[in-house]
Amino acid sequence: MREYVEQLLARNGVRVVEREVDPRFELAAVTVRSQAESDAPILFRRVRGSTMPVVTNVYGSRPRLAQMIGAEEGGFCARWQHLTTSHAPERDPVVALRATEVPLRATNLSSLPRITYFEKDAGPYITAGLYLAKDPETGVPNLSFHRAMMVSDTELRVRLGRTHDLTAYHAKAEARGEALECAILLGAPPPFSLAAAAPLAPWESEVELASKIAGHAVPMRRCRHIDLEVPLHCEIVIEGRILPNVLRPEAPFGEFQGYYVQQLQSHVFEVLGVTVRDDAWFHALVCGSSEDLRLLEVAIATQLYRALVARLPGVLDVACVPHVMGTVVKIRQQYEGHAQQVLLTAIGANHDWSKTCIVVDEDVDIEDFNDVWWAVLTRARLDQRVSILPNVPGFFRDPWKDHWGRLLIDATIPFDRRSEYERKRIPGAESLELADYFGPGQLSKRV
Ligand SMILES: Cc1cc2nc3c(=O)[nH]c(=O)nc-3n(C[C@H](O)[C@H](O)[C@H](O)COP(=O)(O)O)c2cc1C
Repeated sequence: MREYVEQLLARNGVRVVEREVDPRFELAAVTVRSQAESDAPILFRRVRGSTMPVVTNVYGSRPRLAQMIGAEEGGFCARWQHLTTSHAPERDPVVALRATEVPLRATNLSSLPRITYFEKDAGPYITAGLYLAKDPETGVPNLSFHRAMMVSDTELRVRLGRTHDLTAYHAKAEARGEALECAILLGAPPPFSLAAAAPLAPWESEVELASKIAGHAVPMRRCRHIDLEVPLHCEIVIEGRILPNVLRPEAPFGEFQGYYVQQLQSHVFEVLGVTVRDDAWFHALVCGSSEDLRLLEVAIATQLYRALVARLPGVLDVACVPHVMGTVVKIRQQYEGHAQQVLLTAIGANHDWSKTCIVVDEDVDIEDFNDVWWAVLTRARLDQRVSILPNVPGFFRDPWKDHWGRLLIDATIPFDRRSEYERKRIPGAESLELADYFGPGQLSKRV
């Protein structure tokens, strides 16, 4: 990750904060205000209480994510589909000595920045940690993101959602009365973060997916305290084990939907050792911010795209706007009623997300909800094109059924009436540079 951010830095693509910031709220506050006007990563050089610089918003940009996987504009899902179904590059042998290529230093958890994000959070959290563990039965490695509340030098409390592979791995280890060995990676190479966001089938290796995204085998090294291999080029690795039959209080925490999850019982991660690269950078991620939502979108949009192209023609791309609970599918209409079939397939492909699903034509920018809603308002006959499906369960963590029901909207141009709906345009409007017409200072956003 550091090499990637340094390349952006060299091109003036990173916002750098030189003054000292407080890890309690101030770092998160600067991040979200900056994200409101720019997609650039933010490098905080001095964070009170730690010597480590902190970088945020590494993944908060669709164009950057597309570039990381080699996708063309508007082709993220198609490229992802290609990568996930291709063969993995040949793996390098994992050589224990390799670790000497990247000098590593042992440290303890309290040397890491202790960042508190939201007003009512129970304490400092690690939010951008990738959890790497092996299936205790098959040995297949899995990567996933999980938040961790920092309790002491030896204890983290981690949230394992009911449906995730890591949760299943832990349950298998627990059934044998064993702890699950696990490494938390911070500042891993970007392909690992993308692979961690992806919900692959339990028999598919997300470490292999990371190599496919990278386009080459990613060098790995052996851990010092547990039987796992981790990427050689990681800023920080926390080695440990998730204990069997132990749950302890965790949260409140301000999570992705924009609310606080109340205190609950979460798993206990016993820290066995922490290794850092020289001058390591810490990766912090504000939950629910654009960085979180872009990574969640990778997971949901690509999963839906995979299900759609397996069954239907003309599906071009999928996005989650304005939030991960809403899906928009872009199609090239093939026949009358095509969009309706897309809606039905999309809604069946994932039972947790996609509270709303809107299908649009290829001239609509699906990453811009204003454009999507414009299509609804100008193309869709509401009495025929909008359906509400009652009594369908939604997001899995929903005791009150607040996420039940689905809203489906076909916002495509009526089939065979395309010429009436040709989108007007002004030649040159998209390509000109406003700075060529207005003086310095006249382009500020607010007056
Ligand atoms: C930034 C971020 C934070 C996440 N935090 C959590 C979390 O705390 N607990 C959880 O169960 N899932 C969390 N998730 C979701 C899982 O990491 C994600 O669904 C992943 O794909 C699970 O993959 P798996 O089932 O293949 O292991 C988070 C996702 C992202 C992108």
